[in-house]
Amino acid sequence: MTRALVTVIGAGNVGATAAQRIAEAGLADVVLVDIVEGLPQGKALDLAEAAPVVGHDMRITGTNDYAETAGSDIIVVTSGLARQPGMTRDDLLAKNAGIVRSVVQQAVAHSPDAIIIVVTNPLDAMCHVALDASGFPPERVLGMAGVLDSARFRTFIAQELGVSVTSTHAFVLGGHGDTMVPLPRYSTAGGVPITELLPPERIEALVDRTRNGGAEVVALLKTGSAFYAPAASVTQMVDAILGDRGTILPCAAYLRGQYGVEGLFVGVPVKLGGGGITEIVEIELTEGERVAFERSAAAVRELVASMERMKGPQTAPAEG
Ligand code: NAI
Ligand code: 2OP
Repeated sequence: MTRALVTVIGAGNVGATAAQRIAEAGLADVVLVDIVEGLPQGKALDLAEAAPVVGHDMRITGTNDYAETAGSDIIVVTSGLARQPGMTRDDLLAKNAGIVRSVVQQAVAHSPDAIIIVVTNPLDAMCHVALDASGFPPERVLGMAGVLDSARFRTFIAQELGVSVTSTHAFVLGGHGDTMVPLPRYSTAGGVPITELLPPERIEALVDRTRNGGAEVVALLKTGSAFYAPAASVTQMVDAILGDRGTILPCAAYLRGQYGVEGLFVGVPVKLGGGGITEIVEIELTEGERVAFERSAAAVRELVASMERMKGPQTAPAEG
C-alpha cells in the first residue's frame, strides 16, 4: 500500500505550519516547495528532525524542483505574498495570480490526479486561477477559507458564552473578504442556535469580529497574517479528503447553479471525500441571508472580472 503524499507549495508561515500539522497528525508524507533556495530544504530538515521526538514516521522533504512532488494526492497552494498592515486581500490580486498560475502549472504536470487546496489570497479569485491553470474538474479544486472563518466565529461564540469551543458549531459562507456571511441561525452551542442564547446586538458584535478576524491578527502581528488557525484548517480539509470521510465543511467551491450562482467560486458547505468535493450542500437561507450571500458573491465576481481585465497575471512570472 502506498502512503499518501501532500505537496505544500510555499514554505512560509502557513505552508510550513501546515506541513508540520499534516505530518505530525500522521496523515501523509509531505513535500515542501518554495522558490527561495534553501528555505523549504531547511524547514523540512528541521521538521524531519522533530519526528523522532514527536513520534511519527512521516517523511518530510523540501525542494525547489517540482519533479520531487510527483504523484501527490493533494497540492496545497500557499505561495504568494501575505497581507501587511493597511493592505487588503484584494491588493494582493495581480501579484498572487501570477504566482498561483505558475506554481499550479508546474505542480499538476507531475501530479495530474491530485486535488488542489488553494490558500493564497485573495482566496476566491485564486481558486479561479488554479482551476484554469490546472485544467482539473471543479470537484478537484477548492479553497480554504470557510473552515478558518467558522473557527474564528466558534472561538468568539465560546468566549462569549463561557463554553468549550468543542461544544460549538458555526457556518460562515460567501467570499473570504469583508462581505463574508456568518450564519447565526446555523451556529450553535450544545446544539442550540446562538440566536436563542444571545441578544441580537451581541451576535452582531461576534459577526463583525469574525468578518474582521484576519485583519485583527494582522494588526497585532504587524509583519504578516494569521497562520496557526489557517494551517489547522488546511489540515482538517486534508484529513477529510485522505480519509474519504464525507466531512461537511464550508469551502470555496465552484458553483454551477447552486445557490443561484453560475460559474463562480464562493464559500458554501461541501461534502469532502476521496474525490475532493463529492457534493455541494444547499442549505435554506432566509431572505436576509440570501441577500448577504448574493452581495458577497457579487464582490467575488467583481474581483474575478478585474483580475481578468489585467493582462499581467496571464503570463506567469519566473520569480515570486
Ligand atoms: P509567507 O510570506 O510566510 O509565505 C509565502 C511563501 O511563498 C514564501 O516562503 C515565499 O517565498 C513563497 N513564494 C512566493 N512566490 C513563490 C513562487 N513563485 N513559488 C513558490 N513559492 C513562492 O505568507 P503566509 O503567511 O504563509 O501566507 C501565504 C498566503 O496565504 C498569502 O497570500 C496569505 O494572504 C494567504 N492566507 C490565506 C488564508 C485563507 O484563509 N485563505 C489564511 C492565511 C493566509
Ligand atoms: C486571514 O483571514 C489573511 O486571509 C487571511 O487571516
